Amino acid sequence: SNVSDLDVPIYSSENLTTRPRREVESGFNGKLAFAIAASALGSSFQHGYNTGVTNNSQKVVEQWINGTLEDRSGIVPTKESITLVFSLMVSIFCFGGMLGGAVTGFVAERFGRKGGLLLNNILVLLAVICMSSAKAASSYELLILGRLLIGINSGLNAGLAPMYLAEISPVNLRGAVGTVYQLVITISILLANILGLRSILGTAEHWPTLFALTIVPAIFMIATLPFCPESPKYLLLSKGRELEAQKALSWFRGTLAVHEEMDGMRAEYDAMKLVPKTTMRELITNSALRIPLIIALTIMVAQQWSGINAIMFFSTDIFHMAGLDDNASTYATLGMGGINVLMTLVSLVLVEKAGRKTLLLIGFAGMAVDTILLTVSLRFSLQSQVAGIFSVIFVLIFVIMFATGPGSIPWFLVSELFNQSARPTASALAVCINWTANFFVGLAFLPLANAMGGYVFIIFAVLQALFFLFIYKKVPETKNKSLEEISAMFRQQSYQ
Ligand code: GLC
Repeated sequence: SNVSDLDVPIYSSENLTTRPRREVESGFNGKLAFAIAASALGSSFQHGYNTGVTNNSQKVVEQWINGTLEDRSGIVPTKESITLVFSLMVSIFCFGGMLGGAVTGFVAERFGRKGGLLLNNILVLLAVICMSSAKAASSYELLILGRLLIGINSGLNAGLAPMYLAEISPVNLRGAVGTVYQLVITISILLANILGLRSILGTAEHWPTLFALTIVPAIFMIATLPFCPESPKYLLLSKGRELEAQKALSWFRGTLAVHEEMDGMRAEYDAMKLVPKTTMRELITNSALRIPLIIALTIMVAQQWSGINAIMFFSTDIFHMAGLDDNASTYATLGMGGINVLMTLVSLVLVEKAGRKTLLLIGFAGMAVDTILLTVSLRFSLQSQVAGIFSVIFVLIFVIMFATGPGSIPWFLVSELFNQSARPTASALAVCINWTANFFVGLAFLPLANAMGGYVFIIFAVLQALFFLFIYKKVPETKNKSLEEISAMFRQQSYQ
């Protein structure tokens, strides 16, 4: 059956504007804020912190790998073999993310959003046990295993947390609450960079503690999230538990007057019962769904193949390429992390004003031009100090351009492109593709940089330009459009 060809109106609470103004305005309250903090801090923290944690600590961890390899074989290991172990340790985190992302839909339906988020902390505990005992056990395999486990945890978080956030927010706050996910990522990357400083935990002795600290947000989540209800939409739409759904909704809204919103959800529930759940096969064969799917997946790949994580993972190394000494590289990395947070805050405001497409286009065009300039300045940076300074500036501008839109928009654009029935499957696919693309960058960047030097960035410049063209031609503006209008738009396109 062709879901979107049926003449059944797809009700969605997003589209119901009948709630009295008073109620809409009182949507934000202390309990909702508490639930946002309880779910987002503990989940996207894992994603961000473990993205940033290997950056400033690269040198000490590589030295430890060097020592471990030498102790085992009795011969001095080559630079290539150390790079290989280190790159694997960095990128297996993303491989885990692929696995976690792929099962997001299943976990979200089987255990619930809140339930899945809570259970997911078991993986944090196991990961921390591995990572913190690796040094004592002289086993880089344990460190790699720990990174795989925290990666699976992070991939699951990247699917579950945005879903929970979207489903508990009132209509008028949905966009802003959605961006909280990316904001916490950037903040936790910065925190990892700070804690990884030599003067704090980035030392031969303390780096295991640096990796182990990722347990703290898990404890925070376990202490707070149980006090929040499960997502009302999940309770009603997936489980048919109407009374529980209403109680949960009252909790989040801080009022018993939730009848209008409950009516909207009930209408959505009734409409959903009429159409079968959208399957993977249908996503691919039904052209009204295939077009948004291609857009969602390409935007995810574009986000990663812009090369952002070459910088998030290895900026300290890149700053070395630019001729900075150890100390200066580390502090430049901190500056980069700080700029990422600030610019994400700015984009949170811009996104409802300028629109998604505009910000994506500005971001990719800006990155493409900037990356070419970066390649040129890196070429001269070892001979000229001025070129070195410019290289640092171009790295910072790169991050600014990324944070303008390509950083935050892909995470919520997927939800905007699909209706309730197709959303879980499409999200799982999109999150999985995001981490897959991320994995390739993490694995390939250092070996490529060793072989090509600064010219490695030409690859990203070409990709950014291609993604710019794709966005320009294919991505519709979704700002201020209801989900119905967006679906209708794709239906029309598929008939052309
Ligand atoms: C996005 C990317 C993530 C990256 C981060 C940097 O969240 O998905 O991989 O590390 O932005 O800000």
